[in-house]
Amino acid sequence: MRALVGVRGRRYSGRTMPSTPTGTPSFTIDEVTIPASIDAADAADFIEATGVVSRVEADIVGSFDLAYTPAELLPTWHDPYEPRRMFVARVDGRIVGRAVHEVQSGDAVPSAWITVDVLPEVRGRGIGGALYDTAAAIAVNEGRTVLQVFAMHRDIAGGERITSPTGYGSVSRHDPGARFLLARGYRLAQVDRMSRLPLPASPPVVEQPAGYSLEVWEGPTPEHRLADLAILHAAMSTEPPLGETDYQPEVWDEARVRDVDTRGDAEGRRWLTAVVRHDATDSLVGFTQLTVPADLSRPVFQQDTVVLEAHRGHRLGMVVKAANLARLEELAPGHPSVYTWNAEENRHMLAVNEALGFVAAGYPGSWRLDL
Ligand SMILES: CC(C)(COP(=O)(O)OP(=O)(O)OC[C@H]1O[C@@H](n2cnc3c(N)ncnc32)[C@H](O)[C@@H]1OP(=O)(O)O)[C@@H](O)C(=O)NCCC(=O)NCCS
Repeated sequence: MRALVGVRGRRYSGRTMPSTPTGTPSFTIDEVTIPASIDAADAADFIEATGVVSRVEADIVGSFDLAYTPAELLPTWHDPYEPRRMFVARVDGRIVGRAVHEVQSGDAVPSAWITVDVLPEVRGRGIGGALYDTAAAIAVNEGRTVLQVFAMHRDIAGGERITSPTGYGSVSRHDPGARFLLARGYRLAQVDRMSRLPLPASPPVVEQPAGYSLEVWEGPTPEHRLADLAILHAAMSTEPPLGETDYQPEVWDEARVRDVDTRGDAEGRRWLTAVVRHDATDSLVGFTQLTVPADLSRPVFQQDTVVLEAHRGHRLGMVVKAANLARLEELAPGHPSVYTWNAEENRHMLAVNEALGFVAAGYPGSWRLDL
């Protein structure tokens, strides 16, 4: 546990909030030390907080499909390019909620991302608000001018809805997360579609366009492809539709690709990569990645997919994704499903996913507050 230092605004660290008039138990907030390894002596809080987030997600989506294990998550918390901090709220010593403050890589990023999760049984007592204030104070202190939140939302049928400014997708105004954010002045900036593909998939047979070929690998990027992958990773920060979120172009070099690959390796999931090579230039112009947990009962997650703009319109997105799904069946058959996330206005990518058999499974929102 690290004491809260330099956080302006209301400070809750080490202090116990007074009981409410109804006698509900008070809570404390403190910062979690990120352990060096999941077996370290100080890993208990990180592990407990991960369990809390999984329960909150499961309460929204109706299953533990989205849960990561603490061991899978820990490497991301050591990412030097995208620093993040975690705060937890405790009632009687038990972790009941968590806030995260994180920033995108880069020197002049105006925005910070904040996430707050509170267990359903202790909501409505100001715990979420206090966690939020703690994380938001860091962003304000660092001079950020935009606060952003990516939140899963319960799909509540009927009642008032808030429409994405992109014109695609909406979320229920009655979802606790939406209410919480609206009360703090946030506006909806984009709606995503979470989709699920039941396995085994039967991807359509797509002819590979002339002039391009496919390469696949598992684990770290081969040395001679690091520079190409740097370009493709950077493209992921600019090419997908961003709605009204603040997302700055990222700088990627070979060292960062190596770093992200090492981190992926440390997660204990299998990373399956499929890429499209432009034969005339021997350069990679598209890629897609799946991450596969060791446990066969758990779903696979789709990670980035991008085809560089100059090479679009040849069905390369479909070709590369279908190839990676075929490889998944070959290398790790037996998982129940694949999950993916796309902007609801990203009609090309959604069309590819629908053709592959993905079905909508939820609509998370990205929200922003301009300070
Ligand atoms: C959104 C979320 C974090 C709120 O957590 P919480 O602990 O209930 O937050 P608070 O108690 O501070 O505020 C929630 C509500 O309780 C009210 N409240 C706060 N203190 C209260 C108290 N002492 N007594 C009664 N009501 C209280 C607030 O006014 C607020 O009302 P609203 O829903 O109409 O806006 C929680 O619902 C959650 O984890 N949702 C899923 C994750 C999510 O959507 N996160 C997005 C936000 S980053």
